[in-house]
Parts: sequence; structure tokens; C-alpha cells
Amino acid sequence: MNLDPENMSTSAVYHTMVSAIVPRPVAWVSTVSESGIDNLAPFSFFSGVTSNPASVVFSPVNHPDGSKKHTVRNIEATRQFVVNVVPARLARQMNLSSANFEAEESEFEKARLTPLASQKVRPAGVKESPIQMECELMQIVNVGQGPMAANLVIGKILLFTISDDVLTAGRIDPEKLDAIGRLGGKGYCRTTDRFELDRA
Ligand SMILES: Cc1cc2nc3c(=O)[nH]c(=O)nc-3n(C[C@H](O)[C@H](O)[C@H](O)COP(=O)(O)O)c2cc1C
Repeated sequence: MNLDPENMSTSAVYHTMVSAIVPRPVAWVSTVSESGIDNLAPFSFFSGVTSNPASVVFSPVNHPDGSKKHTVRNIEATRQFVVNVVPARLARQMNLSSANFEAEESEFEKARLTPLASQKVRPAGVKESPIQMECELMQIVNVGQGPMAANLVIGKILLFTISDDVLTAGRIDPEKLDAIGRLGGKGYCRTTDRFELDRA
């Protein structure tokens, strides 16, 4: 089967991409508005960029009416964000935080999560999450225009905070971390199902 995105609806393209590009890690991104309201939302179009400088990228797309998500608006205003890692035990709260709340409503309260004061940036992390990456905006790259266009956020990691609970001999242990990955539709997977290969 061949599929040409030019001849497909954006919705069909989306469903094809999220089923083909799997598994995707989930950046649980906390930001703060200029007026001080905490915001939290998950983004699975997410990746590391490079270790020099330590950097991440994620892709908040515009709403169908063309407006920007709160995460983007807050990052444009403050130039800071925190990426929290999502273990399986927090999957339901992560999902809840993706609901379309008003700008004045904090997803921390809605999902019963505890803000964790950050050390180098203003936005709080998620205390229940085992890893926080405090980030400073490097660049927002616009891909497309209008509805579903992306605001690709590239950030420099200023600080990692890693819970001792997920470490074995000083390294992050995927079994203990039990991070989730997103698949197509309603599907998720976890880092407890793995295999190893020696590097070629
Ligand atoms: C697991 C998961 C992954 C998501 N990934 C993305 C994504 O990569 N890009 C995006 O724009 N929205 C994504 N969403 C939807 C946003 O989380 C949702 O639109 C959210 O309300 C945005 O919040 P904000 O307006 O506070 O920024 C995802 C939702 C879930 C549950």
C-alpha cells in the first residue's frame, strides 16, 4: 500500500504517523504563565537532540482553530520549561493532564499532582515523576501554518534531577524507571519489556 499525504486528510496523516512512528517517549512538559499559573501537558512528538549542548525537542501543534496551545504561549512568554518523565504508575494522571483545560486552570490541581520547585527555572516540575529536565528555550521552529501547524520547541537542558529510586550503580535503570511509550490509538508500552544487543 502506498499513501501520499498530499491526497489524505490531515487526520488520516496523523493516524498513519502515530501508528508508524512507535514507540514514542512522552515529554510531560510543565510551564508557567506570565501571571504565575502552572501548566502541564504531555507531548509524544518528542526526542533528544544532542548531548552537546544537552538538548530536547518536542512538537506542540496548533488547535484546529489555529490557536496555540498554552504550553507554547507560556514558553514564548517565559522561555523556560521542565520535561518530566512519565512512569507507568502516573499514566492516568498524565492522560488527565492532556484534557483541554482553561488557561486559568492548573493541570497540577486537576490531576492531583505536586509542584516541585525547580532550581534553575521558574516552572515547577512534577514531584511524583522520577526525572525532571529543567530547560531553557533555544528556538521555536514553525513547521506549517494555521490548524495543526507545529511550533517545534528546542530547549537546552540546564539541570537533570533524577530520583535515587530509579538508579542502579549510579545509572538510570529502565526496569525501575518503568517509563511509558505511546503507540497509535489508545496504545502505550513500557520500558519493562526489553532486549539487548551489543553495539556493532
Ligand atoms: C500521550 C499524549 C501525547 C500527546 N502528544 C502531543 C504532541 O506531540 N503534540 C501536541 O500538540 N499534542 C499532544 N498531545 C495533546 C496535548 O497534550 C493536549 O493538546 C494538551 O491539552 C495541551 O495542553 P496545553 O494547552 O496546556 O499546552 C498529547 C496527548 C497525550 C495524552
